[in-house]
Order: sequence, then structure tokens, then C-alpha cells
Amino acid sequence: MANSSKNMEQHHIESSPLVIQDSFEGYPLNYFNLPLHYRDDLKSVLIPYGLVQDRIEALASRIFSDLHIHIPEQLICMCVLKGGYRFFSDLVSKIQNENRLRNDRSLPMSLEFIRVRSYVNDRSTDAIDIIGISDLSSLNNKHLLIIEDIIDTGVTMVALKKELEKYNPKTIHVVSLFTKRRKDKKCIFKPDYSGFEVPDHFIVGYALDYNEYFRDLEHICVMKESGITKYKVQDGDKVE
Ligand code: HPA
Ligand code: MG
Repeated sequence: MANSSKNMEQHHIESSPLVIQDSFEGYPLNYFNLPLHYRDDLKSVLIPYGLVQDRIEALASRIFSDLHIHIPEQLICMCVLKGGYRFFSDLVSKIQNENRLRNDRSLPMSLEFIRVRSYVNDRSTDAIDIIGISDLSSLNNKHLLIIEDIIDTGVTMVALKKELEKYNPKTIHVVSLFTKRRKDKKCIFKPDYSGFEVPDHFIVGYALDYNEYFRDLEHICVMKESGITKYKVQDGDKVE
């Protein structure tokens, strides 16, 4: 009995990502319900929706126990649109569940939504525009949680964090649902909390897009080469 309560105390949710190995090619499509309009463009289901939800629930409980906010202060949960909207919505609602069910502590939140226009393909490598907040000086002396879908090279997040730091928030934490294990370049940013580390494939679904397609897909999937070709567009400035 003493032993089992000790084990319970030691249980701590992992803030670093669950690693999806390169050797795992994903689940065959025919075990899942998938929209007809994307079935021919996908190779496999890498992470089913249910597993994404379970990991977000675990992250929510870890964040809830880590971050301390003194009422009436609030944690500003900042959603990086568009890719982050599903993750943001589910993470915030799972933190709300913790708030509802726990009587010993709570985590008050306010919500902000931004879009980031990056010029990472231009010569000005780390220039970004933040769209959506009219007055960034409202972040002064506040606790901030940036909620992002995926960190790939990390260039955008480094630039975003640097820009937000100019407004002197009290704390900045970053949670990303995915981090990518890049074969070519090293990723230059490690988030405080991450859901999954994925192999170097282009993944779509659960609001992650390829040229605005595939956001309306529940599972995290890997695309076929033919799908990548089919939805290709001309290069231009990219709004992430
Ligand atoms: N999928 C969707 N969006 C992305 C990815 C990805 O694999 N990497 C960077 N942005
Ligand atoms: Mg995108």
C-alpha cells in the first residue's frame, strides 16, 4: 500500500514529445474513416485522432500542475492560427476540465489569436509580422502560453518569441503539438511542452494543412507524393 502511493506520487506526465520512430510507417488507411475527397492523396494514418486527444489531455494536466497564476492574473493562451486552432481549442478545453474538477488549485486563462506571416524563404531570414493583436503592449507583465501546431525548422518560433519578448511578458512558455525530426537541418527551437516528435514527412490533418487543403481531416496523416504534386502552388509569401 505504501509502495503504491509512492508510485502515484512519482507519476509525472512527460513534457517532452512522444517519439514516433522512422521505422513506423503509419497505419493502413483502410482501418479508418477518411473523407472521400482525400483518400487517394494519403499514404497512411501516422497518429489517429484518439491518440492525439489522449496526449493533449496529458499535456493539459502537466501544464495545469506546472504553471502557477495568482488570481486575478490570467495565463494568456495565444493561438497561432490557422494550424494551431484545433490543438488550441482542445488543449484549452482540457485545461478547463482540470479547472472544473480540481478543488485544490486552478489556472485562469484568457485567449488571444494571432497569425504569423514569415518571410523565411526571403533573404531577410527571420522577419515576421504578427497579425491579429492590435496592441501587443497588453502583454506587458503577463504570463503567456504560445500554442502552436508544429515546430519544423524552428525559425518562425524563434522569431515570434523574440518579437513577443520585446513587450516584456512576465513569462513565456511554448507548447507545440508536434516537433519534426529533420534529416537535413537541425531544428533550432525546443518547446517547453510537446506532444509528439514526428519523422521528416509532411504531415496533414487536425488543422495542419498543405496549401490550405487537409485541415478538414481528423487524423494526422502522411501524404503521398502524388497528393503533394496535385495540391502544389507557386511559391510566394507564406502565412503559416
Ligand atoms: N505539415 C503541415 N504544416 C507544416 C509542416 C508539416 O509537416 N511542417 C511545417 N509546417
Ligand atoms: Mg501551415
